[in-house]
Amino acid sequence: MNISAGCEDGKFFLSFDNVIYNITQYKCYIFASMLKETLIRSALDVGKIMQQHFNGTYKISSKSSINDLVTEVDKLSEAAIVKNIRSQFPDHDILSEEAGELAGNSKFKWIIDPIDGTVNFAHGISVCCVSIALEKEGAMLMGVVYNPFMNEFYFAKKGAGATLNDKRISVSGNENIDSAFLVTGFPYQWEEMKNDPMDIFSYFVKKGLPVRRMGSAAIDLCWVACGRFDGFWEHNLNAWDTAAGYLIVEEAGGEVTDFKGETYSPYQKRLIATNGKIHRDILKVVNGSFENKVL
Ligand code: IPD
Ligand code: CA
Ligand code: CA
Repeated sequence: MNISAGCEDGKFFLSFDNVIYNITQYKCYIFASMLKETLIRSALDVGKIMQQHFNGTYKISSKSSINDLVTEVDKLSEAAIVKNIRSQFPDHDILSEEAGELAGNSKFKWIIDPIDGTVNFAHGISVCCVSIALEKEGAMLMGVVYNPFMNEFYFAKKGAGATLNDKRISVSGNENIDSAFLVTGFPYQWEEMKNDPMDIFSYFVKKGLPVRRMGSAAIDLCWVACGRFDGFWEHNLNAWDTAAGYLIVEEAGGEVTDFKGETYSPYQKRLIATNGKIHRDILKVVNGSFENKVL
């Protein structure tokens, strides 16, 4: 980086890589850099923790149901992220899967899934990641999803695009639902409802479409963002599962909505994320307005 400082017309300025900043802009620049640095460093720290403990011996417990797991590694990872955030931004709010709401007193909220894909992790399957997002007054500013085993580091900043290992990514161009490659997830606790997860899954499978279930919603979203999958839906997700991933999809040119096709908020359960081109087709199916519906 090329840095210089000076004084022009009685006003102090700083220049980074030939872009000139006044003091207010400079403070914003430094603050934004600190936010990004904390986000990235936290994800990398968790990547190391996950690698150290993968296939190791650690305590595993159940949460809402016998198969909804939390491991000691989730908690270690969460503690490392919270420590990083608290050391830089002690007043920021935090919402983290295992610790819950850690109230601060600020416009900023960090939304953390210390390990997404915990069941995979606990069984030695490397489809798992850390997901961290930063929200300001309800708008998602930045998000990171990092899978250390595949060496895949996804990052997005609102309005600045999405990257995988620092290279720009974009969603697929497939416009045809009949040749779409899809992914979904299933909840740990079954809820009887119209158009339940099995109905939607079976509709697409019976039509001969390849539908995967990877076990990590954050990875599902990133794989839509980088064009591997054309679409993803799930019925029962939490803010920590999706906050980073949905920004990454949007910044990669994709579309993310709820099951009604309305603006997605990570504070409600249902999500459809696609390349934008097959979004209406999936929407019709999850809404139950498809022909020959089983219900
Ligand atoms: C789970 C994963 C899974 C999804 C579940 C989530 P966790 O998160 O994202 O793919 O189907 O709904 O709870 O428990 O591994 O953090
Ligand atoms: Ca999760
Ligand atoms: Ca988790």
